[in-house]
Amino acid sequence: MRKPIVAGNWKLHGTRSSAASLVLDIAKGVDNLGHVEISVCPPFVHLADVEKLINSTPLWLGAQNVSEHESGAFTGEISAAMLSEFGCKYVIIGHSERRTLFSENNKTVCAKIQTVHACGMTPILCVGETLSDRESNKTESVILDQLNAVIASSPAKALETLVVAYEPVWAIGTGKTASPEQAQEVHQLIRERMGQFSRNIAEHLRVLYGGSVKASNAAELFAMPDIDGGLIGGASLKSEDFIAICKAAEAVGLERTKN
Ligand code: PGA
Repeated sequence: MRKPIVAGNWKLHGTRSSAASLVLDIAKGVDNLGHVEISVCPPFVHLADVEKLINSTPLWLGAQNVSEHESGAFTGEISAAMLSEFGCKYVIIGHSERRTLFSENNKTVCAKIQTVHACGMTPILCVGETLSDRESNKTESVILDQLNAVIASSPAKALETLVVAYEPVWAIGTGKTASPEQAQEVHQLIRERMGQFSRNIAEHLRVLYGGSVKASNAAELFAMPDIDGGLIGGASLKSEDFIAICKAAEAVGLERTKN
C-alpha cells in the first residue's frame, strides 16, 4: 500500500510572517487527515521558523534544494546535514527550474541524492520533459535518461526511500495540466523502469505528479493507479487550495487502505 504524499513547493515566495500564517492555516486544515503524508518546502531562511510551528502537527518539513557537497569552501551553499539538523524530512532535487535556470544536470542531481540519503532524508527527484520534447515524441527517452542516471548511481538502499515527481515542464506554473491519462502513462513508465531494477522497490515507489495541480483537478489526477500524490507549486501558497488538494489525496489514501 502506497500512502500518498502531497508536498508544497513554496519556491521563492513569502515573508517570515506570511510563511508563518500559511503554515498555521494549513496545519489547522489538515489536522484530521491520516492517510496522506503532507509536507511544506519553504525557502531555506524560513525553515527554522516553520520547523517550530509544525511541531505537534501532522506536517513534515522539506527543502527545495541542497548542495551536492558535504562541507567546505562553497559560498552560498546549504548542506544536507544542515537541512537534517533543521528537521527536514524531504529534499526536492533536480526541479526543472534548477535544471534549466541553474545548470543542474544528471551528475549534480545524482550527487545530491547521495548526500540527502546519507543524511537520512528522503529525496524527491523531479523528472519531466519540455513541450518540444513531447512534441517530438521524446518524452519517454527524456524521462528514462533522467531516471536511469539515478538508478545507475544510487545504492539500492537510496532507491528504497526515493520519491519521484513527474513534472512536465510545460505544465509547471502555466495553468496547463497533463491529463490524468497523459500523467498515468509516464508514471507507469517510471514504475516499470524501476521494476526492472527491483520489483519490490517499484511497488513501494511513490511517484508524485506536479504541474498546475489545483483543487479542481487534484482528485482526477490522484485517482490514477500510478499517481501517488502531488508536488504543488502555486496552489501550495493558498491554504484553502492546498488543504483541498491534501483532502483529495487523503480520499485516495483511505481507499487504498481498503484494497
Ligand atoms: P505549479 O508548480 O504547481 O505552480 O505548476 C509545480 C512545481 O514546480 O513543483
